[in-house]
Amino acid sequence: MIPTRHAPDGRVISSVSAPWLQADMLEAARIRPGHRVLEIGSGGYNAALMAELVGPAGHVTTLDIDPAVAERATRLLSENGYDQVHVVTADAEHLPTGVVPNGGFDAVVVTVDTWDLPWIDALAEGGRLIAPLRLYGYHWAIGFTRDNGALHSDEPLIVCGFVAMQGDGAWQTNRRAVPGTGVHLSWEDGTPLPVDQLAPALAYEPTVTRTNITVRGQEPFDALTLYLAGALPGFCRLEVDPDGDNQVLNPPPQHWPGAAIVRGPSLARLATERIGDGDDGKGLYEFVVHGHGAQGDVAAQEMAEQVRHWQRNHRGARCPLITARPTADCAPADTDHEPHVFAKKHTRITVDWPIVPSSAAQLTDPGSCSAR
Ligand SMILES: C[S@@+](CC[C@H](N)C(=O)[O-])C[C@H]1O[C@@H](n2cnc3c(N)ncnc32)[C@H](O)[C@@H]1O
Repeated sequence: MIPTRHAPDGRVISSVSAPWLQADMLEAARIRPGHRVLEIGSGGYNAALMAELVGPAGHVTTLDIDPAVAERATRLLSENGYDQVHVVTADAEHLPTGVVPNGGFDAVVVTVDTWDLPWIDALAEGGRLIAPLRLYGYHWAIGFTRDNGALHSDEPLIVCGFVAMQGDGAWQTNRRAVPGTGVHLSWEDGTPLPVDQLAPALAYEPTVTRTNITVRGQEPFDALTLYLAGALPGFCRLEVDPDGDNQVLNPPPQHWPGAAIVRGPSLARLATERIGDGDDGKGLYEFVVHGHGAQGDVAAQEMAEQVRHWQRNHRGARCPLITARPTADCAPADTDHEPHVFAKKHTRITVDWPIVPSSAAQLTDPGSCSAR
């Protein structure tokens, strides 16, 4: 990734994506000669590659919210002989009238992190949509096909990272601080819960519930986090101030915000404990669950049981299947928590976990839903 534009606070707000990711996403989009393609988030180079793929009979539109990015893309495309690419300045949350061709695009490639998928209507039936969709803190580059008005994933998920969506579709963080502890809890798709009452629970040593499930030192377990997010009501991501004075968690969550659940004044969180060096010397860890507060051990057992369920039934699965349906087509949910359903603004996302008998599940197989 090469940064091309920064916000006044130093954040990268535009970049040229890594070539391997551009190639993977273009391949997943299955672009053919004659296709009409929309790229959301412009740069120029990727749109030029798309123009090569669709050929003279096809058409490419690239759209960016930032007039400076759109101007640069227009100039670079023109200088390199790609005047036929249509560059549009707009917020992708509201595609301007006239941008969507009759019958919809054959492919929409989203190159900016997105929490929702408001583009189902812009896609032709059978068309492809590739997007880095935000599900509980991770962005998964997901390839979907539109079928009967809904999007269905059919490719392995890749954990990836783009710059954040701006404008009306920007992700609004639901991050709450537990007073005096340096601990922050974030909610994504469910209703954020109160957190002030957790401060006393975090002041005490936690109970530790063992799972007997292991993970290698550098093995990603983002699929487990996604599974827990869908399985457990009150799920949230937990992180600590890296240099706060009130570090109450030992060990603190590493690298990524950890998985946690809130149960009134109690909390449980997923941690790993080193139990050996592993075959490759990079460490072998056991998933353990720390429980805080009067009911912390009960919450920890609830989470540990879901870790074991994932191990027994889903860890060996190639990948979960993701379906996105327009919210307008879905019946209102009966309860706040429908297992493995994430309610967004425009869509309802359902995650289906294929069952793979435990004999086929490999304890140390990283699976295909791996970070890259
Ligand atoms: C990673 S860059 C695009 C990279 C480019 N497609 C490439 O492959 O080189 C993401 C772009 O998305 C744009 N963007 C952010 N929010 C947007 C929105 N709501 N609508 C349209 N573009 C947006 C940013 O201005 C930024 O230029």
